[in-house]
Amino acid sequence: MRYRDSMTPTIRMAADPAGAAAAAAKAVLDVVRAAIAEHGSATVALAGGGTPALLYRNLAMRGGGGARWDRVEFFFGDERCVPPRSPDSNFLLAKEALFTPLGIEPARVHRIEGEVEPPAEAAERYAGTLRRHFGVEVPRLDLVLLGMGVDGHTASLFPGSAALLEKSRWVVAVQAPSGIRPVDRVTLTLPLLNRANTVLFLVSGEAKQPAVAAVLGDGRADTQLPAARVSPQGRLLWFLDRAAAGRLCP
Ligand code: 6PG
Repeated sequence: MRYRDSMTPTIRMAADPAGAAAAAAKAVLDVVRAAIAEHGSATVALAGGGTPALLYRNLAMRGGGGARWDRVEFFFGDERCVPPRSPDSNFLLAKEALFTPLGIEPARVHRIEGEVEPPAEAAERYAGTLRRHFGVEVPRLDLVLLGMGVDGHTASLFPGSAALLEKSRWVVAVQAPSGIRPVDRVTLTLPLLNRANTVLFLVSGEAKQPAVAAVLGDGRADTQLPAARVSPQGRLLWFLDRAAAGRLCP
């Protein structure tokens, strides 16, 4: 087991998933507003899976919290290799829970084309999308939203994956370990995630408690867990419910 001194993340805990999502939504609004105030726009990479739905719906419910959503460009931390109308699509989750309710113009949503075969081509195309938007320097996203699996994976960076060692490519095609579906995915890599100005994890549920403890507990993170390797140059925020926080809770 390899260790590193853990980042000094800001950890916020709430009683339940809805409370954690509401607190995370407020933080998202603060980051988006600050980015727009600073440079006229905001770039946000959205998380996939099920947990973010509460966050997206909270943002949409607040009518967008008065943020200038017309100044926000949306990207994705990862995508499953499925069509955009598949129930497994991270894009579809965000479209239904966030983009449609907030009236986000499609031109400002930069999805990963998970339907493109082979997955490596989909990854290359997304790298091109990022290059067209950010230029040739490694993109510095204003905000990256992430979740975490029970095995400590984040985006589609899974324990033991060669993708964790990627130093130059910003986007790669990967396969999820057995038992995790869909298998084929496209994911941003650590060099890109760790360039972000702010990374915000939203994690809830008792099943995540061991992984949360391994990443955040006792001051030393087990870097075999991909989520523990997310240590951005900017701020690292964790929003947890009590069930996921476990003994981290005071
Ligand atoms: C994905 C996500 C993935 C997700 C975790 C947690 O595409 O599945 O990027 O990293 O955040 O698997 O998923 P839940 O929120 O559904 O527990």
